[in-house]
This record gives sequence, structure tokens and C-alpha cells, in this order.
Amino acid sequence: MRASRRMEEVQTPIIPVVGDLVRSTPGTISLGQGMVAYGPPREALEAIVGVSDDPKTHQYGAVEGTAALRQALAAKLRAENGIAVDDSTRVVVTAGGNMAFFNAVLAVADVGDEIVLQTPYYFNHEMAIGMAGCRAVLVGTDASYQLRLDAIAKAITPRTRAVVTVSPNNPTGAVYPEKALREVNELCRSRGIWHIHDEAYEYFTYGDVKPFSPGSIPGSAPHTISLYSFSKAYGFAGWRIGYMLIPASLEEAVRKIQDTNLICPTIIAQAAALGALRAGASYCKDKVRGMAEVREVARRAFAEISGFCAAPVTDGAFYFFLRIDSPLAPLALVERLVKEFKVAAIPGTAFGIAEGCSLRVAFGALETKTAAEGIGRLVRGLRAIVKG
Ligand SMILES: Cc1ncc(COP(=O)(O)O)c(C=O)c1O
Repeated sequence: MRASRRMEEVQTPIIPVVGDLVRSTPGTISLGQGMVAYGPPREALEAIVGVSDDPKTHQYGAVEGTAALRQALAAKLRAENGIAVDDSTRVVVTAGGNMAFFNAVLAVADVGDEIVLQTPYYFNHEMAIGMAGCRAVLVGTDASYQLRLDAIAKAITPRTRAVVTVSPNNPTGAVYPEKALREVNELCRSRGIWHIHDEAYEYFTYGDVKPFSPGSIPGSAPHTISLYSFSKAYGFAGWRIGYMLIPASLEEAVRKIQDTNLICPTIIAQAAALGALRAGASYCKDKVRGMAEVREVARRAFAEISGFCAAPVTDGAFYFFLRIDSPLAPLALVERLVKEFKVAAIPGTAFGIAEGCSLRVAFGALETKTAAEGIGRLVRGLRAIVKG
């Protein structure tokens, strides 16, 4: 028996493929997975002490998340994101940012509808759109991975239901300026479509760059969906907590979806998330200062090979997206980098870049020394393979 055609058409996740390669070559440093090296703050773990004694922990909870966590998230959205959470909006806790995105797509789009993604895209966004029976319409970003408003506007058709933006961006690290996000949000409003904005990396910026939340634009609430994740910010990847801010008009749809898929986010993980919010953004921002050192090492190393490798320096997340002047297929290049130089990255094809040879390099999951060693191997490997 075969799987559905819809699922057959969805790309195979690349991370496990590269993970197998890494495992089969001991000693390989992986610049592959988009993770952080740290776990949850002490406050999160303290918050779950005794929670398992409460019988409610073992029962189904509210579909949209516990009242206590939703209130704390509303306060965070007001204070940090400048979003006026009021009667016109709802905070929904999800089992991670990926689930929040899937909820959003199912809530706003019918089978056959189109959703505009910027390339390179976050692969799970493209996959979710395909699984929902919708079509991802791809719009290329510019050479610095910034938005191209005209191209986005041209990509909108009568079937378009939403434009997706991710800032700070996976896989490029690009942080979109306020002006650009305001323009996209206004475009969506004027064309009667949704603006879905993913802020999973909101705390990961360098220098004095600040990300902008389109949900804070007055009048944006009726057509804007904002998505968040605890995975990176609080080292919560295994706890599976994210959340979304939706207009009240989508509440019923999102509740139906989440009731069917999840019933409720895990109660104990929500208690931990409430504790994490007590630690607050400074928990993550301290870690980002350490990442800035690695980013600087990488920036300098990539500058040395700029003759055949473009590595735009962006302001956020923990990625570089390299464009390499080589006829090699990106996966073939990654295989050689692992086998010959014991360093791994993710082929750009996984992010919707079909032409040329591009790689995503992630530096969030490694200690400074290991990351520097990995970047050294990558640069040596690229020189030898591409230029040798
Ligand atoms: C842009 C973006 N959104 C969402 C997620 C998923 O996060 P979560 O673990 O909360 O599902 C990721 C994870 O890499 C991401 O890069």
C-alpha cells in the first residue's frame, strides 16, 4: 500500500539525512541542526516541582492552553512586542512553533489555495503548506536575503490566502527592517489576505538591531497572525511549547484544529514555560552574546573565501547562508565535506534554492571552541573541494 500522493510530494526532511551522514563519520562537527546548546532556565525546572502531585496535570486541559500561561504571554506580547492584546485577539499555546504555523495554514487556507513564502524558506513551512493541500508560491529574496516587496505583490493571485515572513530568519539570519514589514503588512491588508509572521528567533539579534513585530501595527490585528516558540529562546526544543496570536475571528477554527491534533498542550510543559517567562528574555540574550563571538569568527573566516563563496552577514538568528561558486550539487558537496573534512552543513536545496550550490551553516548548538574548529574545517574543505 502506498502513502497519499499529497504526502509523496512533500519533501523528505533533510536534517535526519545529514544526521545519518554525521553519525556514520565519527568526529564530524555538525554545523547542521538549528538548535541551541543550552537547556531551560532554572526557573522553568523549579516551576514544575510538585506539579505532578496535582491531579489536573494528568487530565485534559484547555485546548488553547492554561489561563495562567496565556495571561503571562499576553503580558509579554504587550511589554516586549508592543502588541495590544485585547478583546479582538487571542493567545493560543501550541506544542511548538511548527504546530502554530500548521494551525495558521489550516485555519486560513482551503485546498488548492496559495501561500507566498520567501526563499530561501524554512523547510517545515513549505512542507506544512503541501500537507494542507495548498501550494507554496516562492518569491526570491535579494542578494542580502531581504524582502522584495514588488515581487511579493506580483506573486499574489486570486487564490493567495497569505504571505509568510520569518524575521530573524531561518535559514539566512536576515532581520527585516520595520519599514519592510510594515509594507508587507499593508500589502496584505489592502489585498484582503493574511500576513503570517514567525518570530521564533525574536531574541537572537546582534549589535543594536531590534526585530519588529508587525502585530504591533495599529489596525493590523484583523489580518495578522504572529507565531512564537520557546524552543530556541528558552532551550525548550524537547518540551514543545510555542504560541500564536490570532484575531478573534480565527478562534473557532484554530480551536477545532488544535482540539483534533493535540487536544491541549502538555500541562507540565506549560507549567515549565510559565517558569521560563519568569527568567525572561535576558536568559536568552545572555547566551546570544556568546553566539556573537562565534558569528564573528565565522564572518572573518568566510571573508577569506569571498572570491568563490558569498556569505552575506545578517543581523539575527544563528545562521549563515552561503552561495558557493561551484557546479557541485549541494548534497554532494555536503557528503564530501563530511567524509573528507569531518564537518557538516545543510544543502540549500532543502530551503527551496534549486539553482546553484548553497549551504546553511548553523552555529547555535556548539560551544565557541568547537564551532570555531568546525568553521575552520568548513573553510578548508570548501577551498580544497571547490578550488583544489
Ligand atoms: C523559523 C522557525 N519557526 C519555527 C520553528 C519551530 O520551532 P518549534 O520547535 O517551536 O516547533 C523553527 C525551528 O527551527 C524555526 O526555525
